[in-house]
Amino acid sequence: MAIRKINCVWGLIFLSLIFVGESQNSKQFVETRNTQFVFNGSSFVFNGFNAYWMMMVAASDKSQMSKISNVFAQASAAGLNVCRIWAFSDGSDHLALQTSPGVYNENVFQALDFVVSEAGKYNAKLIMTLINNFKDFGGRLQYVQWARNASVQIKSDDDFYTNADIKGYYKNHVKKVLTRVNTITKIAYKDDPAIMAWELMNEPRCTDAANAKLLHGWIEEMGAYVKSIDNKHLLSIGMEGFYGDETPDRKQYNPGNYTVGTEFIKNHLVKEIDFTTIHAYPDSWLEGKSEKERKDFLQRWVDIHMNDSMIILKKPIIIEEFGRTINGNSVEYRDSFLSEVYSYIYEYAKNSSGGMAGGLVWQIMSEGMESYSDGLQIILSQSPSATKIMHDQSTRMVALEHPNNIE
Ligand SMILES: *[C@@H]1O[C@H](CO)[C@@H](O)[C@H](O)[C@H]1NC(C)=O
Ligand SMILES: *[C@@H]1O[C@H](CO)[C@@H](O)[C@H](O)[C@H]1NC(C)=O
Ligand SMILES: *[C@@H]1O[C@H](CO)[C@@H](O)[C@H](O)[C@H]1NC(C)=O
Ligand SMILES: *[C@@H]1O[C@H](CO)[C@@H](O)[C@H](O)[C@H]1NC(C)=O
Ligand SMILES: *[C@@H]1O[C@H](CO)[C@@H](O)[C@H](O)[C@H]1NC(C)=O
Repeated sequence: MAIRKINCVWGLIFLSLIFVGESQNSKQFVETRNTQFVFNGSSFVFNGFNAYWMMMVAASDKSQMSKISNVFAQASAAGLNVCRIWAFSDGSDHLALQTSPGVYNENVFQALDFVVSEAGKYNAKLIMTLINNFKDFGGRLQYVQWARNASVQIKSDDDFYTNADIKGYYKNHVKKVLTRVNTITKIAYKDDPAIMAWELMNEPRCTDAANAKLLHGWIEEMGAYVKSIDNKHLLSIGMEGFYGDETPDRKQYNPGNYTVGTEFIKNHLVKEIDFTTIHAYPDSWLEGKSEKERKDFLQRWVDIHMNDSMIILKKPIIIEEFGRTINGNSVEYRDSFLSEVYSYIYEYAKNSSGGMAGGLVWQIMSEGMESYSDGLQIILSQSPSATKIMHDQSTRMVALEHPNNIE
């Protein structure tokens, strides 16, 4: 009896230790609750940036690693606290992470370790994308090429979404990255609070838009696979926001009315997908159109996706990529676009208690990175006006955060 009682007391202490451990653990990670992100007992809204290049630049030469730290430091000073990077690069290039299916360049992996470790140091949260739809840095077509080279029967590039061998390559990459133990911090990526979310693919599309069902099946299968390895982190698809044939009334919102094989609503209904994303490039999407048409497009694009995320999908939304080239444009013209997007984000965030959670500008670079320039790059130390606009946005977004008491 007495011994039993003692056991019972120890058991309770043990259980409560586990419980405290668990709740502290869950506090470290960004989660979603209904249409909001929550973090550390508060709603979480943010202002952030894209810097896809970080792993490649860190891997290129030890002398380049300071560029990563510089950008995190400059971004942090501007209040930019979410950063989206590529956690892939596939192919024969010396900066490829995966040189052939399942074969990894340890030097490049250690560069990724460094980026993740620096993010943690500067309190930036990472969104890490696992493959590209486009051929830059390998991507979907490199996987297809690998399969062809291994004598796998391939009919079209969209077999990426269905072929068992190729799905095996992709799952292997997911597992390799998520279970990677960081050589600097010794923390497995899947357990690292510096990471906010995984992302299945950068801008998934089908080569033939009629193959939308294949992409949807892939999202379901890979969403479940990611969560089977890591259910601490959030997961997004990485899509641009195009509506498809299953929502004919929504197709009019797509730029130029065309479809790309994605279904914004159906794809995001997949239960493993925690938040929705849209990208916005009115200039290149509406080439040759007037400024007014582009502005009208942007407003409708953000408005309809916001409504669908809040009302139908009930998941937070972020504007994950937006930018305007400075090639042929003035800095003021670029800055006015940033201000326009930031106003939408802020106004919607305010109206929806943070359901519209933030935006990631495309893209922040360091000084001395000319070879990565795409016209949309912003070097914070050389762009005082854009930096001020970003800083102001960060400040007003953070002011919208409020305690979240629903435990
Ligand atoms: C959570 O918030 C508390 C203050 O409310 C702060 O002391 C703590 O550092 C925060 N934790 C994280 C992981 O940000
Ligand atoms: C194709 O596969 C062979 C082995 O079957 C390998 O040696 C070769 O490097 C591969 N080529 C490419 C371009 O992947
Ligand atoms: C898109 O389709 C709608 C309805 O069919 C039409 O009213 C609109 O003018 C079209 N827009 C473009 C850019 O083609
Ligand atoms: C979004 O919802 C609001 C409020 O219900 C409505 O006024 C607006 O027209 C909707 N936007 C679109 C593009 O349907
Ligand atoms: C925010 O809500 C107010 C009041 O309900 C409304 O007038 C305004 O149009 C809304 N703004 C946006 C961007 O939804």
